[in-house]
Amino acid sequence: MKRLGILLSGRGSNFEAIARNCASGKLAAEIAIVIANREDAQGLETARKMGLPVALLPSKGLAREDHDRQVAAALKAAAVDLVVLAGYMRILTAWFIAQFPLRIVNIHPALLPSFPGLDAQHQAWEYGVRYAGCTVHFVDEKMDSGPILAQAVVPVFDSDTAETLSNRILAEEHRIYSEAIALVLNGQFRVEGRRVVRLTGARNGN
Ligand code: GAR
Repeated sequence: MKRLGILLSGRGSNFEAIARNCASGKLAAEIAIVIANREDAQGLETARKMGLPVALLPSKGLAREDHDRQVAAALKAAAVDLVVLAGYMRILTAWFIAQFPLRIVNIHPALLPSFPGLDAQHQAWEYGVRYAGCTVHFVDEKMDSGPILAQAVVPVFDSDTAETLSNRILAEEHRIYSEAIALVLNGQFRVEGRRVVRLTGARNGN
């Protein structure tokens, strides 16, 4: 069974969706460790309640690379096959990324390359786009960058607030993240420049 290392900083609903899919067998993987960089991360509590291995590695006051070294050591000790960022609000160092080549994925609540950064759903709503969505991508050295594995689109209605739009996007996040993880784990793709090309027979992943 392939082993996932989850990194999170907050609520942890994407982590929960992945954990449920692992538990039900929908996603052929197991969660080897859940690492939070903040003590108040709700996801950490959820992981404990689920009986999953957890590690709290506070980032506050640490140099970025010093913290990344602690996180990488914990991930390696847990023998993870894939590092899954699930609302991990830290920019990773080049050193960390080099430890796990094409083995770190992230989810972002916008149709990248539009609206990178913080509060992407609010940015999209305020900009007035008619369609919004989410993106799962490999992590490279830039923020919310890296080859795209999956995207999902949702409509924006006149009656939406940034919050109702966020909820609609979140439901899609929960759906496509596990699908993209399955694609990475089964290795049925190759990366050509920025493009992730599915090998014959693999699903489209949208
Ligand atoms: C999610 O919407 C995720 O896409 C976003 O943080 C939220 C975490 O929610 N990530 C980013 O903005 C990364 N740039 P969750 O803790 O409930 O999964």
